[in-house]
Amino acid sequence: MSQFQYRNGDLYCEDVSVANLAERFGTPLWIYSKAFLLGQLQQLQNAFAEVDPVICYSVKANSTLGILRVMHDAGISFDVVSGGELYRVKAAGGDTSKVVFAGVGKTDAEIRFALENNILMFDVESEAELDAIAAVAGSMNVVGPVALRLNPDIDAKTHAKTTTGKKGNKFGMDIERFRELAAKVLRDKRLKLQGIHMHLGSPILTTDPYEAAGQKAIEVVEGLRRDGHEINWLNLGGGFGISYRGQEGLPAEAYAKVIVPAVKAAKCRLALEPGRFIVGNSCVLVSRVVYTKREGGKLFVIQDGAMNDLIRPAMYDSFHRVWPVSSPVAMPDVVEGEIAGCEKTDVVGPVCESSDYFAKDRYLPPMRRDDLMAIFSAGAYGTAMSSNYNSRPRAAEILVDGSDVKVIRRREIYADLIAHELQDWHPSVGSSPAKSADFWLLAPHTGLLEKKDWPTRFTRSAWPVTPIPDDLTVRSMNSVVERRGLFTGRLSMLMRSNPECPVL
Ligand code: LLP
Repeated sequence: MSQFQYRNGDLYCEDVSVANLAERFGTPLWIYSKAFLLGQLQQLQNAFAEVDPVICYSVKANSTLGILRVMHDAGISFDVVSGGELYRVKAAGGDTSKVVFAGVGKTDAEIRFALENNILMFDVESEAELDAIAAVAGSMNVVGPVALRLNPDIDAKTHAKTTTGKKGNKFGMDIERFRELAAKVLRDKRLKLQGIHMHLGSPILTTDPYEAAGQKAIEVVEGLRRDGHEINWLNLGGGFGISYRGQEGLPAEAYAKVIVPAVKAAKCRLALEPGRFIVGNSCVLVSRVVYTKREGGKLFVIQDGAMNDLIRPAMYDSFHRVWPVSSPVAMPDVVEGEIAGCEKTDVVGPVCESSDYFAKDRYLPPMRRDDLMAIFSAGAYGTAMSSNYNSRPRAAEILVDGSDVKVIRRREIYADLIAHELQDWHPSVGSSPAKSADFWLLAPHTGLLEKKDWPTRFTRSAWPVTPIPDDLTVRSMNSVVERRGLFTGRLSMLMRSNPECPVL
């Protein structure tokens, strides 16, 4: 069930009024429901329980630490595609021994980082990558655990930009190459073949592609076993679709129905890499109307949110439901076509691009300056793909749990926009001697956060997980960070842990 409901015409996330959150934390604002996230995880775990899957949440869909922490606390593992994502998983307290690492361009440094953290397996995409993993593993005297990524040439009927399992995509390898590389792994003591990986595309709204992939997997696994491999894992990637329009998404059981029999027949452990299915509908992006304007026979409602926040409509022509946060007209189950009391509207942002829109030709109730708009299904590939384009600070993210509200990413301030540039001469961020307590400082070269009660010394905090080394000294807000007297970096960011205190 959705945790975003209208009560007497006002939108709520769980027990919290969305309008109140917007008032308190400003807009644009990402609002997540923790209950929704946990519900989706439970749904997946129940649907696949018979084969005891390892669910590796796909970090690329939403990599905010507060979201990763929810996954970790629920016993979920992770699928990463970069050293940065692995770093985030560690920062969220994740167990790296169940992490899978995909992506066509892993660097030696990323491979080393992953091996040092004892990950479950690499999803290998090419012979050159296999050679690189062997070389790095060899230099470290460890065995590189790999799964080969098969491109099964299955049409998952997704958007051209998000299809991955068709011949001609850059991902994976065809079956002939797959067999060659499997034989190569068998001859190389620095590598161990753990399994087979396939990811077909995203989002996939039918079960047929998974059924076809499952059948293909059985055949391939049997062949590999005949050749002397001990194949333990079948990783069928992510891609489960969700409802963007209203009711088109399938329940997890539908996918399980075609996947579970294949896993049993292949006598493998199942790994899955769902991202969108878990986070997609856990979040609304709330923006405020700045202006309305009629031009060229069209009505434009201009928001303070934009394509730099949510780029999916611009990039994939994606459909997101939009509806006023407070509205006398009830939001229909499926927001398409003509609606009584509504007018055809384009919902756009302020960025200087014609592709900066959230919705086009959508029937919406009348909206005025300062009204709030909810953009639904914004949790997957929303914040993770957001940027500072047009020098717009990134928006805050809020996690709602019943009536509890937690800021999981504070709103960026203008100073953040320049914090990493020309540090030798620009006035250091946070140089103003703030009087209010409760600040966090981030030392970028160590990645450590320290709580500061101005003007006393920095104290250790429970978060992040990495302990603060004893030899680290932070001299003052403006100072360099020193480690045993050696220069390590300049404090580049001042974080307000209390978003209600005035912007510095
Ligand atoms: N595993 C692999 C290897 C992937 O490439 C992906 C997504 C996933 C898992 C997770 O897929 P999901 O369960 O979230 O569908 N930015 C696009 C989607 C790109 C998907 C990239 N790969 C969008 O906004 O629709």
